[in-house]
Amino acid sequence: MSIADDLRSMRDDAVRRIDQASDLEALEAVRIEYLGKKGSLTAILRGLGSLPADERPVVGKVSNEVRVAVEDALSARRETLRSARMEARIAAEAVDVTLPGRRRRAGTEHVIDQIVDEIVETFLGLGYTVAEGPEVELDYYNFTALNHPPDHPARALQDTFYVRDLSGDVATVEGESDVLLRTHTSPVQVHVMERQEPPIYVLAPGKVYRRDVADPSHLPQFTQIEGLVVDEGITFGDLKGTLEFFVKRMFGEDRRVRLRPHFFPFTEPSAEVDVSCAICGGEGCRSCGGEGWLEILGCGMVDPNVFGYVGIDPERYTGFAFGMGAERIAALKYGIPDLRLFVEGDMRFLRQF
Ligand code: DAH
Repeated sequence: MSIADDLRSMRDDAVRRIDQASDLEALEAVRIEYLGKKGSLTAILRGLGSLPADERPVVGKVSNEVRVAVEDALSARRETLRSARMEARIAAEAVDVTLPGRRRRAGTEHVIDQIVDEIVETFLGLGYTVAEGPEVELDYYNFTALNHPPDHPARALQDTFYVRDLSGDVATVEGESDVLLRTHTSPVQVHVMERQEPPIYVLAPGKVYRRDVADPSHLPQFTQIEGLVVDEGITFGDLKGTLEFFVKRMFGEDRRVRLRPHFFPFTEPSAEVDVSCAICGGEGCRSCGGEGWLEILGCGMVDPNVFGYVGIDPERYTGFAFGMGAERIAALKYGIPDLRLFVEGDMRFLRQF
């Protein structure tokens, strides 16, 4: 057998093995075996120089043909394997555009904020503006200027969170007024009347704090909405009309409103306001505890003593005020049996609103 024949059979072996290479790595191994630095075909090509001069042209020609054939086979097979690999990858990474997407859950406003917004909107529509005051408040604003006598039980430690200084004493401002967390939004009335001349039509929503243990009808921190109107000729009829409008807007036109005499230090006369039970309409049923009515807020005509603290002339002006708990309103509106649900952050509950 001539060298040329050896070369041709080497070519045939190489081409067969190239065509059988199952992936790019196997193909590269075959290439190295023949055409690598120490490859068998490389060795022959290198040895051409040492052949006798008469064999050189033939062997040289054949070995070149073999090299070209092997290289052609390699690149053809490489192309095939590359596109197969690409197709496999495309198939593996394919996106099924018919698959339904996963819906992201968007957050919503907390139900209590929704209620506050709804109430605020109602009163903005009546020409009120929104006022704010501090949550860390002075006894003067929270109690004294709201006509609480010095020994009023609401000042007792079990109701009010007092702010203490580093020595453990109740902190005071200018040595006289105790610092506390406001127990109601009524002190905002005093701030507003101190800085603004009548006519005053304001609504003051905000957080309030009481030393209560959380139970179905109490929270140590909750939300109140205060209303204050001071103008010439304001009467109890204005108060009643305003609250009736509000209650029907909030709970429905079919609901009735009832005012019961009550006492608050800062209003005289004072009343508590009830709304007729949605279930029995006032007859009394299980859902309203047989009462027929549900209490929703406190209100009254601004006590002249309060005007005295802020320098408003009680001969010229009269006013009314009211205050309600947003959690309580929300509980009545949606039939929620336990106020703690509003602050526990259980998404299964909150997502319903
Ligand atoms: N501040 C009272 C409370 O927290 C609620 C209240 C009653 C507010 C009568 C008022 C009012 O403005 O006139 O229980």
